[in-house]
Amino acid sequence: MRIRVPATSANLGPGFDSCGVAVSCYLFVEVAEAADTWHVDHSYGDQVPTDENNLIIQTALKTAPNLLPHRIKVASDIPLTRGLGSSSSAIVAGIELANRLGDLHLTESDKVELASQMEGHPDNVAPAICGDLVIASGNGKKVNYVKHYFPDCELIAFIPNTELKTSESRGVLPEKLTFPAAVAASSVANVMVAALIKGDLSMAGKMMEQDQFHEIYRSSFVPHLAQVRQISHENSGYGCYLSGAGPTVIILAPKSVSGKITTQLKALDDKATIEVFQVDREGVQVF
Ligand code: HSE
Repeated sequence: MRIRVPATSANLGPGFDSCGVAVSCYLFVEVAEAADTWHVDHSYGDQVPTDENNLIIQTALKTAPNLLPHRIKVASDIPLTRGLGSSSSAIVAGIELANRLGDLHLTESDKVELASQMEGHPDNVAPAICGDLVIASGNGKKVNYVKHYFPDCELIAFIPNTELKTSESRGVLPEKLTFPAAVAASSVANVMVAALIKGDLSMAGKMMEQDQFHEIYRSSFVPHLAQVRQISHENSGYGCYLSGAGPTVIILAPKSVSGKITTQLKALDDKATIEVFQVDREGVQVF
């Protein structure tokens, strides 16, 4: 059995902790033979556990505590601590592992509920499960979510060669917003979502760049955001936003300009990785 989980890009600007899209970059888990203890083969090095302390196994055991141990092999193209949903992909893989080995018959909505509880917010885990664009509302209560087609475009990711822990990036956010500030910020998010649903990427991109919930507070962690955004503007990108908690920045662009944008992003920082993703329409898959 092989489980495949897509990377995800959360927030999409103003959709903080609520909106996310699945992209064509994957974590693979291959389930091998039953064993006396859990063992995880991976190539992440010493920082990632190879036993039952591995996040995939911890998640599987939280989902189904009586699962029999197996040897599993993990391979992933999703970079760690870069804002592309690597921990969510591990959580979703763990839930699917428990679902299949434990014969749990979880529905999509069961998985979204469980994964959101474990991750704390649904904006990465929900698209990793469902694929495509997902708009979700959780906040510690039952998760309500809607999956919808994300308009066709390229997602060009500028991935700095530096880690940014989500906890650190959340630590600089304000505890409160005033009522007028919350109304203004949510109106931007509303128009962004409506434009995506309508297929109007120009309007959606414009709204993504008017986020008032998080990017401004995180700016000291992501000094490259302004330069990447300028490259997007100069080359007719639809919009540019901080992916999840960062430091990755994503430009949404038509295919016709993605080559030019990629070349200019490479020149901006030769240590950064530039990836061109498509939207993943399927979410978690088992082969
Ligand atoms: N919405 C989350 C954040 C995504 O921006 O902190 C990262 O987990």
